[in-house]
This record gives sequence, structure tokens and C-alpha cells, in this order.
Amino acid sequence: MSRTPLIAGNWKMYKTIPEAVETVEQLKEAIKDVSSREVVIAPSFVCLFPVAEVIRRSNIALAAQNVFWEDEGAYTGEISPAMLRSGGCTYTIIGHSERRQYFGETNESVNKKSKKSLEGGLKVIVCIGESLEEREKKNTFSILRTQIEGGLRGLTADQMREVVIAYEPIWAIGTGKTATADQAEEVHQFIRNQIGEKQGKELSEKTRILYGGSVKPDNIDELMAKKNIDGVLVGGASLKVESFARIVKFLF
Ligand code: 13P
Repeated sequence: MSRTPLIAGNWKMYKTIPEAVETVEQLKEAIKDVSSREVVIAPSFVCLFPVAEVIRRSNIALAAQNVFWEDEGAYTGEISPAMLRSGGCTYTIIGHSERRQYFGETNESVNKKSKKSLEGGLKVIVCIGESLEEREKKNTFSILRTQIEGGLRGLTADQMREVVIAYEPIWAIGTGKTATADQAEEVHQFIRNQIGEKQGKELSEKTRILYGGSVKPDNIDELMAKKNIDGVLVGGASLKVESFARIVKFLF
């Protein structure tokens, strides 16, 4: 497969600076021999720079968990793509369901943030996913279609090459209920088809689609065996070195 697997850890609002530094020092050692897959860590904003210092010249890349869509200005509390790059980030997560749920993130804001980040040289991990209610009403595909169309509207083919999509069904996040590998694969195939309709088959075949939601050492191998699952976005299990290292070292 031509798509390099991407294993990303979203630390959410966990870990102080000393805790983050200690974790990433241990992780760096634990996965130092891994080369055929890309590993990304997304600590909180204050931990970005100290973590960047630890992972310099390692096989771990850095992501932010959010970003704002202006270059600079009177936007108290916000952080621009250029600031993130200067802090060592190569990626930012955008549109996580927790940001949609608690902080008013919409497909429109996801779109503005994605455009600005890509213009500023940051790669983006755009999160999409349906709620339990939406799934039960059989609205999964229409919700995802709207999130993809709205979130990625107007991106050029070159920009799309720097986009990673993370499918995170809300009902599987932090609940211990993973989508089965077959359920995830079905949705990933749908997402790839959607991208293909908009951007053409070649680009859709190159786009990496991650699964997120209760990914653990004991389900990673099954998920990664699926054709359209190109990696994972891990919450809880990324906080501990042992479990995250095992996920990074998933078996083919
Ligand atoms: P959990 O792995 O804790 O379910 O979280 C998933 C997630 O939200 C990653 O962004």
C-alpha cells in the first residue's frame, strides 16, 4: 500500500509540562526503531514547545489540538498556524467532536481553519464522525458527507495532499465501544469514495483516513488490517507509553 500508516496520539487536556516531557522521553526510547510508520503526538498548547525539544531529530512529529484562522490580531486566547509552526508543529487537529460539542466548532470554522493552516504550511487532521442518535437514525453517511463537503470546501488538489481525515464516531470516543473493524472499514470506504467524487480517484487513493474511538492494543491489529484504515487517532491509550508504543508497533 502506498499510504504510510499514521499513528497519532491526542492527549486532550491531560498532562502538565513535566508529565508530558517525561512521557515523550520514554516514548521516544520505546519506539526508536520504528521507521515504516509516521507517529504524531498532540499535547496541549503549553506542552508543545517543551515536547518539541525532546523529539527533535526523532521519529515523532508534533501536532496541535486546535488552531485559529487568522494570522495575528486581537483574538485573545487564540493561536495562529505560524505560532504553531514556530513551536515545532507540523500538524494540527481540526474539528474534533469535543470541540464541535463544547466549543461551537462548525463545518464552516473547520473549513476556515483548514484553509489557513494549509496556507501556513501546517498539515491538518480533520475530524468527522456521527453521534449514536445519528447512527441509529441511519444518518451516518449524510452527516459525514456534509462534514466532508463543508469542512474541505474549496481546498485545492495540492492542499488536499496535506489533509488527513480522522473518522471518529462520537459513540466510540472514550466509551470503550470501538466500532468493529468492519463497521469502520465500511465508513472509510465511503469517505474515500466521497473524496474521489470531489477530487478524483488518484487523490482519494493517496488520502490517509484514520480511525479514532477506543483504539487499544487489543484492537489495533484488526483495525490496521483493513484496506481503507490508514492509521488511528488515539485518545486514552496514547497517555501511557506502554499502550501507545504497542499501538505504534501494530502487526501487519
Ligand atoms: P479515545 O481513544 O479515548 O476513545 O479517544 C478518541 C479520540 O477522541 C481521539 O481524538
